[in-house]
Amino acid sequence: MTWLAVLRADELPARTPTAVEVAGRFVCLVRLEGAVHAFDDACPHRRWPLHEGRLAGNVLTCRAHTWEWDVRTGELLRMRAPECLVTHEAREHDGVVEVRVDPEAPAATERSELWARARAREAQESAA
Ligand code: FES
Repeated sequence: MTWLAVLRADELPARTPTAVEVAGRFVCLVRLEGAVHAFDDACPHRRWPLHEGRLAGNVLTCRAHTWEWDVRTGELLRMRAPECLVTHEAREHDGVVEVRVDPEAPAATERSELWARARAREAQESAA
């Protein structure tokens, strides 16, 4: 497994879920208490991007239907299905945020098509 540079360290503010792409995989990063946490940026429920969620303490709440996870472990804290997040190793090294995706990790979850269409429509409207 290789560490891949994804951002300069100063591009990842504390407590701000941030979307990046790592080797074709959408990943959400959260800097919390000095550590960087990484997980797939698609909610296991209906695939809404988790970087749009709300972070309170170490708990990230999906914007769509309020499922909640501990960003430090990926553990589901509230809702029905035992759907933990797919987490990845992340670190800050020499001023760069790096992520290492395990080749044995489950296939990436695609983001919601509904979300993608909404964002495309917003982009068209702002360009007009
Ligand atoms: S899409 Fe995230 S809780 Fe439903």
